[in-house]
Formats: sequence, C-alpha cells, structure tokens
Amino acid sequence: MKRLRCIIIFAIALSRVSTAHAADFEFPNITLTKAAFGSCHNRKYAANAQKTWSSIRAEEPQIFFWTGDSVYTKGRSEASLDALQYEYKQMKTNATLGYSDFHPPLGIYGTWDDHDYGGNDAGRELPNRRERADLFWEFLGHRIMKNRDGVYSSLTVGSAPRKVKVLFLDTRWHREQHCIPSVAMKVPLGSGFACLSRWFAAAFFPSLCPSQSTLLGEEQWQWLEQETEASGSVLTLIVSSIQVLSTNPMMEGWGHFPSERDRLFRLISQMSEKTAVYILSGDVHHGEVLDPMAMKEDSFLEVTSSGLTHDCASPFYGGLCEPLLNTYSSHRHNNIKNYYIGINYGVIHIDWDNSTVEIKVRNQDGQTVLSTGQRTLQTPHPTWTEDELRTIHTTMDGHLLPWLKTAFITILVAVVIRLVSSRRTLG
Ligand SMILES: *[C@@H]1O[C@H](CO)[C@@H](O)[C@H](O)[C@H]1NC(C)=O
Ligand SMILES: *[C@@H]1O[C@H](CO)[C@@H](O)[C@H](O)[C@H]1NC(C)=O
Ligand SMILES: *[C@@H]1O[C@H](CO)[C@@H](O)[C@H](O)[C@H]1NC(C)=O
Repeated sequence: MKRLRCIIIFAIALSRVSTAHAADFEFPNITLTKAAFGSCHNRKYAANAQKTWSSIRAEEPQIFFWTGDSVYTKGRSEASLDALQYEYKQMKTNATLGYSDFHPPLGIYGTWDDHDYGGNDAGRELPNRRERADLFWEFLGHRIMKNRDGVYSSLTVGSAPRKVKVLFLDTRWHREQHCIPSVAMKVPLGSGFACLSRWFAAAFFPSLCPSQSTLLGEEQWQWLEQETEASGSVLTLIVSSIQVLSTNPMMEGWGHFPSERDRLFRLISQMSEKTAVYILSGDVHHGEVLDPMAMKEDSFLEVTSSGLTHDCASPFYGGLCEPLLNTYSSHRHNNIKNYYIGINYGVIHIDWDNSTVEIKVRNQDGQTVLSTGQRTLQTPHPTWTEDELRTIHTTMDGHLLPWLKTAFITILVAVVIRLVSSRRTLG
C-alpha cells in the first residue's frame, strides 16, 4: 500500500516536472532566424490584403504569429458562430485575399482579439466561448489537447542555447469589464463612445475605477508563471493582442488593468535574469515601438504591428490619429515620432552568429519603417528593480484632474464675484 502510494506520488511529481517544461508546440530541431507577425485583417479591404500577403510571402518567414483580429464580421452586435466560421473559411479558401496560399514551414500560431473572439471590446460576458475557441484553433490548423479556458498557448523553436519561446496570451476570455463598460456593441458609433469612456475613466476618475479587475484570469496567470520558470530560452516573446505599455487611455490596453500590469512587470523583471524579453502586440491600427523606461538602455520593449489591411488614418475620424499619438507619447522608444501610420506587418530577425535580435515593422511594400535595432541576446541580461518598475508610466493617472480643478475653481470664483457684485448693487 505504502509502495503504491509512493509510486503514485512519484508519478504525479514526474508529470508535474514534464508539464512545467513542455510547451504546447515544440520544434526542438529547428533554429529560428526569421518570423513574421501581424494583426487586424478585414476582408473588405481585399486589394490591401492581397498586397500585404504578397510582401509577407516574399519574406519567406519560417513561422507566422497572429497577434489578434484575424477576421472581422459584419455589423455591430455579437458575431454568431456561423459568421465567424464563414470569415475563417474565406481566409483559408478565397485566393483573392492572398492568405490561402501562405504556408510558412513551421505553420501559423497566435491568439485572438475582440473581433475574431466575436464582439467589439468584449470579454468574459460573451457566450459560447468554447465554441469560439474551437473555431479559432480550426482556423490556425492545430489544437491544444488540454481542456483550457482560453486560446493561450506556448511555443518553442530550437533547443538551448538557441531556444526561443513564444507565449500567446488570451486577453478576452477572462477579461472583466472596464469600470465604465464599453458601449461598442450597443449603440451606433459605439467604439468612439468607448474610447471616450476609457479616456474619462483614466483621466478623471482613476481612483473610482476598480484596479483589481482581471484581464488574464487566475488560471492563465498560473500557467504563465509556470511557463516562464526554467524554460531555458534565450529569447522570450510575449504576445498580447492589446498593448501593454501604451499610455494612450483611449485604446484598450493593460493600462486599464493596473494590478494586472504590475503583475506582468514583476514577472518580466524575474524573467529578465534568464532571458531577453520582448512584447508583441496589435489592435490599434498603427505600428509603434514602445519602451517602459525610455531613459534606460536595454529596457524591455514592445513592438506593435497593426493592421494588415487598414490603418488608423483611413476612417472618417482618421485625422485624430496622429495628434493623439503625439499627445500620448511618453511610452515611446527613442523618439516620440517612433510610430507608423499605414498598413504594416512585423518581422523578427535573429542573427545567432552575432547573438542579436531585431524586430522590425514593415510597410505594405516590405520596406522597414520602424525597428528596435539589433539587440543583444547575450547574458548577463539587463534586469529591472521594483523601484524602476514603479517609474513606468501608467494610463490611469488622472492627467486631466488638474485641468478639471482649474476649471472648477475658475467657475467658483466667477460665481462668487457675481454674487458679491449683485449684493453690492442691491445694497
Ligand atoms: C529531433 O532530433 C532528434 C535527434 O536527431 C530526433 O530523435 C527527434 O525525433 C527529433 N525531434 C523532432 C520533433 O523532430
Ligand atoms: C473572395 O473575396 C472577395 C473579397 O472579399 C469577395 O469579393 C469575393 O466574393 C470572395 N469570393 C467568394 C467565392 O466568396
Ligand atoms: C556580425 O558580426 C560580424 C563580426 O563579428 C560582423 O562582421 C558583421 O557585420 C555582423 N553582422 C551584422 C549584421 O551586424
């Protein structure tokens, strides 16, 4: 009996060890030198899709990562499963778009964002999450056998000392509502109102917003923490559909979930002792290189590439895109103009002879428009202290409160003067 118990405990321990080290998808015998990534693909811009995919195919990446919004469905309300399935099928079979004959040798991996999840700005409240996830896995062409709540997954290419790990996060399945819930699916021009409500929450009422809301959910956090310990990779890419480091309060982003963002920063700081860390994101319809500690050399960086078929300057409010990017710029790497408005995709180059990685954003014609520059993969890696993490700019900073106070005091003073002077005339 005792022996049996020992065997069981040993077996459990063994299974724990093996799950902690095995990624969901592994290519131990391949060395990764070139990957591509991208987000925000709307079939209605078919000519743009064709041009962009032709440039991406010409790059001959070994692998491609979706960083969210691989398809859009028509209409404002929640997407039906049929509508999503139809869009995925179009992607995979309609040769006009140029995606159906894109077959990088290691395949296509990634995560979803709100549109391929099935509802603009939607989170955990959306029904049929498991069916939606099944459709998404079918679109990618592989499936996680584990019964997982979310489309998060891990991938490794290569073996130590040339191992690269990619962690795809699911920022929709478990996501709680913003403190002012988004009306993007409820009223005409709802996404515009949602931008304003996020801005108000961050700029006027940060202390009224519950900072404990979850984005990833506890189960995904535990998975992520397990995936990042002892992975043996020299380069780790964290893929989040929404931006992590942006200070722009109008867009969805980790800044609206302060305690979740702090938890991720602490995790990255622990990881940084063992591996170089970069974040890849999408969602916003422009390209950007973001930097949490603008003044420190070798800070961890985020590279955003979005969209593959359309950009933030094209809709009728497109004129606001550039002024907003210039206003919220404190998170930007090197130069506040380090962004790109125009259709784009991302490329990751690894030069193992020189132990460097370079992440680039390229325009529709394949020209480089943004770059991190060549960054070393050699140890020792830069690390970040708790104090340094605390200096990282946040979105929920009440930056319009001083203006509000001034306006309030001005009005108050004007009213008092008015009252006093009317008393005098009366007296
Ligand atoms: C990797 O290479 C080893 C040794 O050549 C081989 O045994 C193994 O099956 C290969 N693994 C994969 C996933 O191709
Ligand atoms: C293929 O896609 C184009 C562009 O979205 C569309 O106009 C066309 O109807 C599609 N073809 C089929 C067979 O669905
Ligand atoms: C890589 O390093 C070699 C020598 O160490 C150098 O000549 C070469 O220019 C480097 N390549 C790049 C792309 O920086």
